[in-house]
Amino acid sequence: MPRSLDAATQQALAARLRFYRDLGLTEFYRRPFDPAQFDHLPESQPEEPVSLSSLSLGANDARLDSGLDAGLAAALAAEPEQGTAAPQILQETNAIPPAIQRRPTISAPPLVSNLVAPAEREAALRVIREDIGDCTRCALHKGRNKIVFADGSANARLMFVGEGPGADEDAQGLPFVGRAGQLLNNMIAAMGLKREEVYIANVVKCRPPGNRTPEPEEANTCSPFLFRQIDVVRPEVLVALGATAATYLLGQRQPLAGLRGRVHSLRGSRLIVTYHPAYLLRDPRQKKEAWADLQIAMKELGLKAPGKV
Ligand code: URA
Repeated sequence: MPRSLDAATQQALAARLRFYRDLGLTEFYRRPFDPAQFDHLPESQPEEPVSLSSLSLGANDARLDSGLDAGLAAALAAEPEQGTAAPQILQETNAIPPAIQRRPTISAPPLVSNLVAPAEREAALRVIREDIGDCTRCALHKGRNKIVFADGSANARLMFVGEGPGADEDAQGLPFVGRAGQLLNNMIAAMGLKREEVYIANVVKCRPPGNRTPEPEEANTCSPFLFRQIDVVRPEVLVALGATAATYLLGQRQPLAGLRGRVHSLRGSRLIVTYHPAYLLRDPRQKKEAWADLQIAMKELGLKAPGKV
């Protein structure tokens, strides 16, 4: 920001940048601005209230007996059974993933204006899956067994976004079903929710070889489908699991530390950033921090931890 701008102008510019980013325009600074992009956007149209009568809050078997910290300990300390190795998220980081550092191309399509009616969301998601088809758009298709589209409710109030499938997910075609997925299940239960009530997807839908971080061209090729999924589900709250998800969702290359602990706004949803469960498996001391992030999400959703009065 040039020094000559006064504080008020700087603030106004920063607010405008955030506004553009919320519209999905993360690359406008590198492309000629085309006002026609705004033609299809709503004029401060009131959003249709999302009816989620199916969400049975508090009906959680893993009811926790005494308060949030005990809840965290009980729900997150249960280590997933040994299985296939969790993805290699070794240091989560306060560092920007190396692949992203190399080529920082981050893009998001403009926000679609029309909300999809709750009854039509399943079908709308099926259309996105059909559009993906037997995808060969990026190199990741060469090593994959199954495309991992998503799991959960099309009418979820809460959506989790991870980085990309690991070996278990690649074998089963479902996100977060390996060890990291078991920990994510515990995190969801600690929030008083069932896995079927949330929606879970990844930045890339095919397993990167050796569970490496997706390359920017892979993430940018695949993430438009993720944005379409978000636009259909329109969760009230999105949780970005780890630096890769946070980077590609927010279009901001920032260390995780600078993104956690606050509520961002993204495509009509509120976004919370937290650690990736695979990282938490490697450094369980950070579970407390992750729980603090999930509590922000719960507050946004008006949820209380089970067992907490
Ligand atoms: N890690 C991810 O980021 N996504 C999955 O689906 C599984 C592990």
